[in-house]
Amino acid sequence: MMTVTDATAGVTSRYRVAGGWRESDDTRTLPVISPVDESTIGGVHEYTRDEIDEVFVAAHRAQPRWAARPLTERSELLHRFADRLAENADAIGDVLMMEVAKAGKDARDEVVRSADYVRHTAEDAKRIIGDTQFSDSFPGQARNKLAVVHRVPLGTVLAIPPFNYPVNLAVSKIAPALVTGNTVVLKPPSQGALSALLMCELAYDVGVPPEVLQVVTGRGSRIGDYLVQHPGVDLITFTGSSGTGADLARKAGMVPLLLELGGKDPAIVLADADLDAAASDIVSGAFSYSGQRCTAVKRVLVVDTVADELVARIAERTAKLSVGDPRENATITPLVDPEAATGAERMVNEAVAAGAVLVHGGTRTGRLLQPTVVDHVTEAMELAWVEPFAPVLPVLRIRSAAEAVRIGNRSEYGLQAAVFTRDIDMAIQIAARLDVGTVQVNGRTARGPDHFPFLGTKASGMGTQGVRPSIEAMTRVKSLVVNLRAPDLGASA
Ligand code: NAP
Ligand code: G3P
Repeated sequence: MMTVTDATAGVTSRYRVAGGWRESDDTRTLPVISPVDESTIGGVHEYTRDEIDEVFVAAHRAQPRWAARPLTERSELLHRFADRLAENADAIGDVLMMEVAKAGKDARDEVVRSADYVRHTAEDAKRIIGDTQFSDSFPGQARNKLAVVHRVPLGTVLAIPPFNYPVNLAVSKIAPALVTGNTVVLKPPSQGALSALLMCELAYDVGVPPEVLQVVTGRGSRIGDYLVQHPGVDLITFTGSSGTGADLARKAGMVPLLLELGGKDPAIVLADADLDAAASDIVSGAFSYSGQRCTAVKRVLVVDTVADELVARIAERTAKLSVGDPRENATITPLVDPEAATGAERMVNEAVAAGAVLVHGGTRTGRLLQPTVVDHVTEAMELAWVEPFAPVLPVLRIRSAAEAVRIGNRSEYGLQAAVFTRDIDMAIQIAARLDVGTVQVNGRTARGPDHFPFLGTKASGMGTQGVRPSIEAMTRVKSLVVNLRAPDLGASA
């Protein structure tokens, strides 16, 4: 079992290129500063362009050999990787907690969830089957061609996860890519790089060749463009902000993209909803991990006849949230991005100045923003539309379900939505009209369980994640057409 000190020491003074170790020098070492207490918890190497080139050459050289290994062998390696992840959930979870200020229990749970993801993927990949077709099922064709249709890996996958799930959103890319025979170049978030490096060392420990799964660290703003435009990339699977994702898509060129981006998920509450249950789901959905979840509830659209009762219940629950140190499992912790804290504070103050009502919170100490509920937010306010990625919950009052659909669809985002009502037919009708990837009925917006399809429309993404969709996205169809001759079989016996 690795200790936290051992865990970080082992990966901060050295770095790998094409599988081999090199000594990092101070000129290219990026310190990893903990948002928890501003302490330096490690350092990672910022890869040069030449080193990135070496990484991709090694990835392409290794890929045919990796793809030629039996699927069951790759699957077994992933199972062993998952076992090591689970065994080291505490050690990696503690590093993750300090890197991204996630409550310790949630950080460790993220590692366990990741092990489960890897196992599910390792098994599901063995259930991907192909298809065969004869030619004469098409008009004018004789039965003289047989198509054997199967799936093959794309080559080398560039995987770029965000800071808020630096392990889980990394394995959600790594596992499907590896099990299908691709090699992977992982560019972890700067806040989360230590956790990612430790995770990948576990994969090497169980037998995944280092040149098959390589990590390139460095600030995305400095090496990102070189990575996404690299000729060695055969697919980019990116999870992050809509701005970064759109910019990446413009630069990537003719490369398949899998983009999971930002959101502004509404919780729609109708007059017949169970307000206690809705308030609990909304507060949990809006404020877990300080609202730093793409699928967080980021606005409430509540029918005005029950708004006062709902807001009172939301305020009561918000006031009970633990605030402070993730080492004590606080729900509300210092934000990873200090500008998210100041930006959210500014939007709240502007909304209140324009007539909104501050129900709870609204104060900030450095990166730590109190859980904030703002009522009577209108469509004229920035808070109704912008993703703050912070513990801020705007409440808009509506008159009808139709208005909820209009306001919901007016957003540039289309990740998820939640509908709280006892009328399932109404929920289904609203869901049918919302332009989003997923509608939760009487539950908080969420990606999990991880084998469910996960996607966003509009500025929220492109393509679909989830175990099976990700496996398919990292492969392509290949068709083998056998031209059949009709030899004379000779006289029957
Ligand atoms: P981000 O700033 O877009 O960064 C995401 C990843 O991209 C990081 O690894 C980042 O590296 C890298 N990156 C930055 N600039 C890049 C560039 N020019 N080229 C290539 N890569 C680049 O997002 P974040 O702050 O980490 O995460 C928060 C955002 O992600 C929110 O908008 C949230 O909604 C979204 N998100 C979406 C999902 C989803 O599944 N839909 C899940 C989680 C988060 P550095 O860390 O070095 O900058
Ligand atoms: O923002 C990360 C996204 O994957 C959220 O996951 O399970 O917390 O909804 P979850």
